[in-house]
Amino acid sequence: MNDSTVQILDHRTPEERGREFLPGMGRPWLLPLYDAFTRFSRVRPLHDRAAALADVRPGESVLDLGCGTANLSLAVLRAQPAARVTGLDPDAAALRIAARKATRRRVPLTLVQGFADRLPVDDGSLDHVVSALALHHVPDDARVRFAHEAFRALRPGGRVTIVDFGSADGSAGEHGHQHGRGRGPRRGPGSTGAYGRVRGHGRGHAAVADNPHTARNLEGGLLRLLADAGFADAREEAHVEHRYGPITFVQATRR
Ligand SMILES: C[S@@+](CC[C@H](N)C(=O)[O-])C[C@H]1O[C@@H](n2cnc3c(N)ncnc32)[C@H](O)[C@@H]1O
Repeated sequence: MNDSTVQILDHRTPEERGREFLPGMGRPWLLPLYDAFTRFSRVRPLHDRAAALADVRPGESVLDLGCGTANLSLAVLRAQPAARVTGLDPDAAALRIAARKATRRRVPLTLVQGFADRLPVDDGSLDHVVSALALHHVPDDARVRFAHEAFRALRPGGRVTIVDFGSADGSAGEHGHQHGRGRGPRRGPGSTGAYGRVRGHGRGHAAVADNPHTARNLEGGLLRLLADAGFADAREEAHVEHRYGPITFVQATRR
């Protein structure tokens, strides 16, 4: 592989080929709008912040779970051009967009079509698992398996860094939103509106709490998910009040 090789691999078993998943914008046909939407809706700073938090060193291996069009993968590579990044996602169309973006930027990126509950790597082979706005797309049982898979795949001292809708305590849903502008229902990347559940006027917190996908991440949901998989020090490193709702940055180390 040369310095800027971009490749897409298919890691799915025959059984996984027909498996359903919730795509980035909630509907497959909305995918072409995904990146424009992330720019417009100020989602990108979340990727840069997660990449900074991950603090990847030269030569370290990184798996981006639910990479979609590779926004977090590319943020990691911007922060650390010598990282070895693999993006994993079941959505072939999103991976093709990711590959085009990486090729245009002349950065090396391996993209793997597959699911969160079966990571395409050997035991203890990763330095980092990262993920942005993806875990709320993953069904309950697969999320649990993902957390165990992340623990298996990381070397001792390796870190998992997750940014997603959620909160570490019970505060979400109790504040008013700070950035909503009251223009009615929203659809967007990872937004609750992607599922057609946002009824209110920029009521990000309430929408996140009302939506069964994102509600699982509230009140320490992501921290419990990681702790139950064996991560000893799962903690919230940062919290942002985004126009779409509360965003939590969670990190844990594999001891
Ligand atoms: C809102 S998008 C986030 C994409 C990207 N991480 C970003 O921040 O721009 C959620 C992604 O999760 C992926 N996804 C859905 N179900 C999944 C699963 N079971 N395993 C892995 N990824 C999944 C979707 O295909 C989609 O690309």
